[in-house]
Amino acid sequence: MEQTGPNFYDDEAVFATYMRRRQRIDTPNDTLEKPVMMDLIRPITGKHILDLGCGDAAIGRELLDRGAASYTGIEGSHKMAAVATKTLADTDGQIIEQTIENWMYPQAAFDLVIARLSLHYVADLVPICTQIFHTLTPVGLFVFSVEHPVITSSEAGWTSGTLRQDWIVDNYFTTGLRVTNWLGGTVQKYHRTVENYFHLLNAAGFIIEDLREACPQREHFQDVQIYERRKRIPLFLIFAARKPR
Ligand SMILES: C[S@@+](CC[C@H](N)C(=O)[O-])C[C@H]1O[C@@H](n2cnc3c(N)ncnc32)[C@H](O)[C@@H]1O
Repeated sequence: MEQTGPNFYDDEAVFATYMRRRQRIDTPNDTLEKPVMMDLIRPITGKHILDLGCGDAAIGRELLDRGAASYTGIEGSHKMAAVATKTLADTDGQIIEQTIENWMYPQAAFDLVIARLSLHYVADLVPICTQIFHTLTPVGLFVFSVEHPVITSSEAGWTSGTLRQDWIVDNYFTTGLRVTNWLGGTVQKYHRTVENYFHLLNAAGFIIEDLREACPQREHFQDVQIYERRKRIPLFLIFAARKPR
């Protein structure tokens, strides 16, 4: 039975596999996604930060240690929210167990909104982008990463759990729901083209400042073979967009 994002991460086996995988050396998150994210969100000092789909909130702890004024993580999975709450236990950061779709976004409350690899689980991003726009202060920044559209459109010819050798991109312009076998479970993800993301941000009123594909940088990898492999195909798409004054 296919699951929505938060339900998927609440599955006992999926949760355990995901947490284990994040501990491996040279994970794509650590070597590809995080360096770009950190580059795009600087400076952090004094910022009020909202994180949508915050997972274990490890980034929240780091951002507070680096001088963020506040950190609020929104997380729809009960298991993940519990881990995140522990991560922030002795800090001023807060975790709210709620979905990205149903949370009541306060007006002009945050200088920076981040969403790391969570928005491709959301069916309709039009109202979410509008809410994010309104929850940002003027000139506030929205930085998010998603699975790259060539990944969300290349399900064919690969068995989950095996080392992927080919990426067969198909039906690229057919956007919407894609059901994927991953981490031993079945999850609903939403495929969008690069153009879709651009227009979503534009329509909400954002000025797009940067677009990255997390091109591998040798210095972030311990294992040269993993580095070479990561040069084959982009895994992530990352946008930085600003609310005008
Ligand atoms: C791939 S994990 C990434 C976690 C974290 N952002 C990170 O980068 O380490 C995706 C997270 O988004 C959460 N998520 C997915 N869809 C969500 C939704 N609609 N509302 C709230 N959280 C959601 C999942 O529960 C999961 O914790």
